[in-house]
Amino acid sequence: MPKRPKAAVLIAGAIVLAASSGFAVAQPPAPAAPAPQPDYHPSFGDLMTMAVQPRHIKVGVAGKARNWTYLTYESSELRNAFGRIARTIPVYRNQKLADLFASGILPSMDDLDAAIKAKDGAKFDAAYAGVTQSCNTCHAALEHAYVVIQAPQASSYTDQVLNAR
Ligand code: HEC
Repeated sequence: MPKRPKAAVLIAGAIVLAASSGFAVAQPPAPAAPAPQPDYHPSFGDLMTMAVQPRHIKVGVAGKARNWTYLTYESSELRNAFGRIARTIPVYRNQKLADLFASGILPSMDDLDAAIKAKDGAKFDAAYAGVTQSCNTCHAALEHAYVVIQAPQASSYTDQVLNAR
């Protein structure tokens, strides 16, 4: 019977054809390189909200508890945040931020650090009030008088022990 071999040949041919046409399919194009991520450029307001405000709160809460060891660390974090902000945003409304910080807040930070070093609670309270006042003086000077800072009423960081000694 010639029919059977014919069918077999046809099938085999179809397989060869399918296989070869498979190879003939164009290779998928190499995936395009992902577009580079745009840099995130934080605004002055962003940096105040994420680098300054939390540390002002933590220093206030730890200060109430006279947690001197932690205060030594966190006060320096707050001070250094001002330095980093001035490097990230050198000029704000035509004024050098480094100069604004140097005259506007660092003197009160010096008082704060002296109180922490002396482990002097009364001095700390006065110096912390001075820092907070400096925040507001600068806000007023730079047309943000409505951004009003006060000593924290409670910790916003309930997962962090700030009153340990
Ligand atoms: C050199 C001046 C200056 C000093 C010092 C300063 N700030 Fe500011 N702060 C600003 C300006 C200006 C803005 C508004 C930025 C903007 O949105 O363009 C601002 C914004 C803020 C905001 C954002 C407000 C919001 O609701 O989004 C917070 C919070 C803040 N400051 C906290 C503080 C604290 C706390 C201190 C003190 C430890 C402080 N700042 C010290 C100038 C200052």
